[in-house]
Amino acid sequence: MTLTVSPIPPALPWTRVCAVSDILPGTGVCALIAGQQVAVFRVAGRVFALGNLDPFTGVGVLSRGLTGSYTRDGQTRLKVASPLLKHTFDLETGESLETPGVRVPVYATRTEGGDVWTGSLA
Ligand code: FES
Repeated sequence: MTLTVSPIPPALPWTRVCAVSDILPGTGVCALIAGQQVAVFRVAGRVFALGNLDPFTGVGVLSRGLTGSYTRDGQTRLKVASPLLKHTFDLETGESLETPGVRVPVYATRTEGGDVWTGSLA
Protein backbone atom coordinates (compact mmCIF):
# COMPACT_ATOMS: atom_id res chain seq x y z
CA MET A 1 0.00 0.00 0.00
CA THR A 2 1.38 3.39 -0.96
CA LEU A 3 0.24 6.44 0.91
CA THR A 4 -0.08 9.52 -1.20
CA VAL A 5 -0.63 12.27 1.32
CA SER A 6 1.92 13.89 3.56
CA PRO A 7 0.63 14.18 7.13
CA ILE A 8 2.38 17.50 7.53
CA PRO A 9 -0.17 20.15 6.68
CA PRO A 10 1.10 22.83 4.33
CA ALA A 11 0.74 26.35 5.73
CA LEU A 12 -2.74 27.67 5.17
CA PRO A 13 -3.57 31.37 5.39
CA TRP A 14 -6.69 32.19 7.43
CA THR A 15 -9.41 32.20 4.81
CA ARG A 16 -13.18 32.64 4.85
CA VAL A 17 -14.63 29.45 3.36
CA CYS A 18 -18.39 30.04 3.33
CA ALA A 19 -21.32 30.77 5.60
CA VAL A 20 -21.94 28.19 8.30
CA SER A 21 -25.45 27.84 6.84
CA ASP A 22 -23.95 26.83 3.48
CA ILE A 23 -22.91 23.52 5.04
CA LEU A 24 -25.79 21.17 5.79
CA PRO A 25 -25.47 19.81 9.32
CA GLY A 26 -23.66 16.49 9.30
CA THR A 27 -22.00 17.08 5.94
CA GLY A 28 -18.90 18.64 4.45
CA VAL A 29 -17.88 20.92 1.61
CA CYS A 30 -14.62 21.14 -0.28
CA ALA A 31 -12.69 24.40 -0.57
CA LEU A 32 -9.55 25.16 -2.52
CA ILE A 33 -7.33 27.29 -0.28
CA ALA A 34 -3.84 28.31 -1.36
CA GLY A 35 -3.85 25.39 -3.78
CA GLN A 36 -4.85 22.89 -1.08
CA GLN A 37 -8.09 20.93 -1.13
CA VAL A 38 -9.63 21.34 2.30
CA ALA A 39 -12.68 19.40 3.51
CA VAL A 40 -14.76 21.48 5.90
CA PHE A 41 -17.38 19.69 7.99
CA ARG A 42 -20.23 20.91 10.16
CA VAL A 43 -21.03 18.19 12.65
CA ALA A 44 -22.67 18.24 16.06
CA GLY A 45 -22.66 22.04 16.13
CA ARG A 46 -18.94 22.23 15.46
CA VAL A 47 -16.79 22.91 12.40
CA PHE A 48 -13.77 20.80 11.40
CA ALA A 49 -11.26 21.15 8.56
CA LEU A 50 -9.14 18.32 7.16
CA GLY A 51 -7.18 17.69 4.02
CA ASN A 52 -9.63 16.51 1.36
CA LEU A 53 -7.39 13.79 -0.10
CA ASP A 54 -8.05 10.23 0.98
CA PRO A 55 -4.51 9.05 1.85
CA PHE A 56 -5.27 5.50 0.71
CA THR A 57 -6.28 6.49 -2.82
CA GLY A 58 -4.93 10.02 -3.28
CA VAL A 59 -8.38 11.08 -4.46
CA GLY A 60 -10.03 14.26 -3.15
CA VAL A 61 -13.23 12.86 -1.71
CA LEU A 62 -13.22 13.22 2.06
CA SER A 63 -15.58 16.21 1.99
CA ARG A 64 -18.23 13.87 0.57
CA GLY A 65 -17.75 11.24 3.24
CA LEU A 66 -20.38 10.14 5.70
CA THR A 67 -19.86 11.57 9.16
CA GLY A 68 -20.61 9.79 12.38
CA SER A 69 -19.37 9.12 15.86
CA TYR A 70 -17.41 6.43 17.63
CA THR A 71 -16.28 5.77 21.16
CA ARG A 72 -12.67 5.72 22.31
CA ASP A 73 -11.61 5.44 25.91
CA GLY A 74 -15.20 6.03 26.94
CA GLN A 75 -15.32 9.30 24.99
CA THR A 76 -17.62 9.99 22.07
CA ARG A 77 -15.63 11.30 19.12
CA LEU A 78 -16.53 12.30 15.56
CA LYS A 79 -15.33 10.68 12.37
CA VAL A 80 -15.73 10.74 8.61
CA ALA A 81 -15.68 7.74 6.29
CA SER A 82 -14.06 8.13 2.88
CA PRO A 83 -16.65 7.47 0.17
CA LEU A 84 -14.16 5.32 -1.74
CA LEU A 85 -12.78 2.56 0.47
CA LYS A 86 -14.70 3.52 3.62
CA HIS A 87 -11.59 4.18 5.67
CA THR A 88 -12.53 6.37 8.60
CA PHE A 89 -10.69 9.32 10.09
CA ASP A 90 -11.11 11.20 13.36
CA LEU A 91 -12.48 14.66 12.52
CA GLU A 92 -10.38 16.36 15.17
CA THR A 93 -7.01 14.66 14.76
CA GLY A 94 -7.19 13.31 11.19
CA GLU A 95 -6.03 9.90 12.44
CA SER A 96 -7.03 6.79 10.53
CA LEU A 97 -9.16 4.61 12.76
CA GLU A 98 -8.09 1.44 10.98
CA THR A 99 -4.43 2.03 10.25
CA PRO A 100 -2.34 3.41 13.11
CA GLY A 101 0.17 6.01 11.98
CA VAL A 102 -1.85 7.17 8.99
CA ARG A 103 -3.53 10.53 9.23
CA VAL A 104 -4.79 13.35 7.09
CA PRO A 105 -3.76 16.93 7.81
CA VAL A 106 -6.05 18.89 10.09
CA TYR A 107 -6.53 22.64 10.12
CA ALA A 108 -7.78 25.16 12.61
CA THR A 109 -11.29 26.51 12.19
CA ARG A 110 -13.29 29.35 13.64
CA THR A 111 -16.72 30.81 13.03
CA GLU A 112 -17.23 34.53 13.00
CA GLY A 113 -20.41 36.42 12.17
CA GLY A 114 -21.95 33.27 10.72
CA ASP A 115 -18.94 32.56 8.50
CA VAL A 116 -16.52 29.65 8.62
CA TRP A 117 -12.78 30.37 8.52
CA THR A 118 -9.92 27.93 8.33
CA GLY A 119 -6.21 28.36 8.83
CA SER A 120 -3.12 26.53 9.95
CA LEU A 121 -3.00 25.16 13.46
CA ALA A 122 -0.90 27.39 15.69
S1 FES B 1 -17.21 11.19 -3.99
FE1 FES B 1 -16.31 11.59 -5.86
S2 FES B 1 -15.64 9.62 -6.40
FE2 FES B 1 -16.75 9.18 -4.59
